[in-house]
Amino acid sequence: MSVKVSRRAHFNAAHRLYKADWSNEKNDAVFGKCNNPNFHGHNYELIVSVTGEIDPSTGFVMDMKVLKDLIKSEVEEALDHKNLNLEVPEFKDLNPTAENIAVVIWNKLRSHIEKNKDLEVVLYETPRNFVTYSG
Ligand code: NI
Repeated sequence: MSVKVSRRAHFNAAHRLYKADWSNEKNDAVFGKCNNPNFHGHNYELIVSVTGEIDPSTGFVMDMKVLKDLIKSEVEEALDHKNLNLEVPEFKDLNPTAENIAVVIWNKLRSHIEKNKDLEVVLYETPRNFVTYSG
């Protein structure tokens, strides 16, 4: 019997979407306000889900305290209140779109989750815009 368990988390971060090798006009056309050279912030909402068999001895798919601590150490401490472009090494040469942030978060968590369990990351950049990555 496979069950999906989820933990919700939150972080604030600033970013700018642009490509250095494009003209200002092209960056404005593609990225709009997200190309503001002075950066802007988002209140990101994150839902991390782990799917697997229930351990018959504990009744858990995964101890949620462990998942909570993992999100705190791997995601919140790395991204919360950071300028993603300037302060987070993964985005040195990677545009910090919601898509890319979700993939980075998934990669940070994957090695800490048991191999026989599936990991899914849902990232809300705004209440209406969200992306999903599951590897
Ligand atoms: Ni933005």
